Amino acid sequence: MPPIRLRRSTGRVGPSRRAHTTTAVQVLATRSNASRARQSARNVMSPPVGYLMVSIEPPNFADMRIGILGAGNMAAALGTHWVRAGHEVMVSGRDPGRARETAERIGGQAGDWAQAAQFGEVVLLAVLADGVPDVLAATELAGKVVIDCTNAVVQGRWTLATPAMAESVAAKSGARVVKAFNLCPDELWRQTPPPVAVPLCGDDPEAMDIVRGLVVDVGCVAVDGGGLERAALFEATAAVVIGLAVQGVEPRGILPVVG
Ligand SMILES: NC(=O)c1ccc[n+]([C@@H]2O[C@H](COP(=O)([O-])OP(=O)(O)OC[C@H]3O[C@@H](n4cnc5c(N)ncnc54)[C@H](OP(=O)(O)O)[C@@H]3O)[C@@H](O)[C@H]2O)c1
Repeated sequence: MPPIRLRRSTGRVGPSRRAHTTTAVQVLATRSNASRARQSARNVMSPPVGYLMVSIEPPNFADMRIGILGAGNMAAALGTHWVRAGHEVMVSGRDPGRARETAERIGGQAGDWAQAAQFGEVVLLAVLADGVPDVLAATELAGKVVIDCTNAVVQGRWTLATPAMAESVAAKSGARVVKAFNLCPDELWRQTPPPVAVPLCGDDPEAMDIVRGLVVDVGCVAVDGGGLERAALFEATAAVVIGLAVQGVEPRGILPVVG
């Protein structure tokens, strides 16, 4: 696979002028903004305040080709931002008509699973969890940077169907998987910018840098969430959050605002 280009065409993967040479620590809460924090606790759409976030600014990767496996809500929500940021996007799905319709709507092109996987320097896995085995069987993802936003959540019981989907995708495909974008609903990802920080986890440093860049292209702050072993926690958190939301409970209402 050819190397993914930095935007400034230095010809190598590494930090750009936009990147900090060391980890940037962003403290988003002080006692002086406690009232903002209280407001935010009432409103899930507010920017995240009230806790320490560590964000690492990514290198500025050049316009990339992004293959999207899935033609539904997440494909459209994230694909829209990435097309707007100058990336080329190919959408795929099991229904070619839906893939074509989604691609046209966001300004991308459509293909089948294998074409989208081949097209993408980065691949977004955005199908329902039940479909992941079939999609992996139809694609060649070894060595690719794959963003996994899936949630293998059992409807109604709001628990996990499998241990860490992201680890299973990495083991089955040989892809460099980064878990991201799984915690908030597509309504939020459709906003410009989505008022939320995006935690991500993965084991491959270059893949993490690339996905941090794509988080920035969506309009969000990327928050380092550790290695891929932590994907199970991201997925469990989603199960809890979705379970609360369907009961009509504001998920952030169960957590204290710290600071
Ligand atoms: N929507 C959200 O708020 C949200 C937020 C975070 C994470 N997620 C996760 O992101 C993933 C995509 O969610 P979404 O909301 O975009 O779903 P969606 O709108 O229902 O679209 C799902 C896509 O997966 C395809 N698909 C479904 N079952 C399949 C199967 N058995 N085999 C192959 N393809 C199949 C669908 O094809 P058809 O069009 O033919 O049905 C469609 O292209 C899910 O894992 C979800 O849990 C969703």
